[in-house]
This record gives sequence, C-alpha cells and structure tokens, in this order.
Amino acid sequence: MREHNDLNPEVIRSGSDVFKIFLPEEKILNRVAEIGEEISTEYKGKFPILIGVLNGSFMFLADLMKNISIKCEMDFIKLSSYGDEKISSGKVKLIKELNADIEDRHVIIVEDIVDSGLSIKYMRELIESMKPASLKIASLLLKPNSLKYDVKIDYIGFEIPDAFVVGYGLDYAQKYRNLRSIYALSE
Ligand code: IMP
Repeated sequence: MREHNDLNPEVIRSGSDVFKIFLPEEKILNRVAEIGEEISTEYKGKFPILIGVLNGSFMFLADLMKNISIKCEMDFIKLSSYGDEKISSGKVKLIKELNADIEDRHVIIVEDIVDSGLSIKYMRELIESMKPASLKIASLLLKPNSLKYDVKIDYIGFEIPDAFVVGYGLDYAQKYRNLRSIYALSE
C-alpha cells in the first residue's frame, strides 16, 4: 500500500477544532474485511443488494464490497444530512431515491454511523415498505450512548464513545471525507 504522511496525519487542526487519530486505517480495513467475510458466509447462495446511505457510507461500502466474495449488487440512497452542524436537526428527508427494485430481494443497508438512530429508523421503515425478502443493517460505527431510538444493527464495525468523528467518508461541513483514518474531535 502506498504510504504518505499527508494522507494519514496524526492530528488535524481546523480553526479552534482539533481532531486526533481515533481509528487508524489498518484497524478499519481489518474490521471491514471481517464484516465482508461474515456477509459472504451468511448470504451464500443468495444475491444480496447493498444499499449505501450517501454521502458518508461511500468509502465503507466500497471497501466492504471488495471483501464480499459472493455475487452482490449495490445502489445508493441519500438522506438529508446534519448540514454544517455537529448535532442532528432531528429531521430526516429523502434527497435521492433508490433506483433498484428491491421487492423480494435480500437487502443490506450500509450506514457510516448510527448516532441517535433516527436516520436508520427512517431507512428501515422506508426499505421495509418496499417489501424486501430480508433486511439487515451494517454500520461502520455506532455511538451506543447517543441512541434515542430502538434500532437493531446487525453488523457493527466499532462501538465508539460520543465524540464527533470525521474521516473515512465521514465529514464535518463536507470536509475530511477523504481521510483514510477516523479522527475524533478533542474537547
Ligand atoms: P442519526 O440519525 O442521529 O443516527 O445520525 C446519523 C447520521 O448523522 C450519519 O449518517 C452521519 O451522516 C451523521 N453523523 C452522526 N454522528 C456523526 C459524527 O460523529 N461525524 C460525522 N457525521 C455524523
């Protein structure tokens, strides 16, 4: 793998915000590979469709699919984001609909992070209304202490404390998605 210090800094400073490395790239990729193998085993003989929730899940979805050894498909859906804030507005809106027909399909929703659980609750209800054969949820990150809704996540990359995190697809005001590792905001 190509090494480059600028692509994997230890600390990021943006105005008064300081983000420190929290989950290094290697740890993320190892865990994503494990989830990919688990999905490959559990869905053997099936043809699942992975639905990435834009924008944050694009990197996780890409790496996850690279570790799925069975036939699979993908599509994206887009929900309204936090805007430029670090806390949720408490409302979810559909911005980009699904193109695929998922009736009778084995669906896996792929999320970057579950915080309050509102987005994933909305996604679950939306996808269930489309009558899939089965539905499971994969989230790279879960903040268990922030959960306000009763949501079941089937594949969890890492459970993390309540810090605001960026990198590996996750943003703050649309920045830092390109970082290979995950960084936490220092209080
Ligand atoms: P929830 O609806 O409160 O569970 O929030 C889920 C969405 O909020 C995620 O898909 C992210 O887009 C965003 N989000 C929540 N926590 C963070 C964070 O720590 N960093 C970046 N985005 C976050």
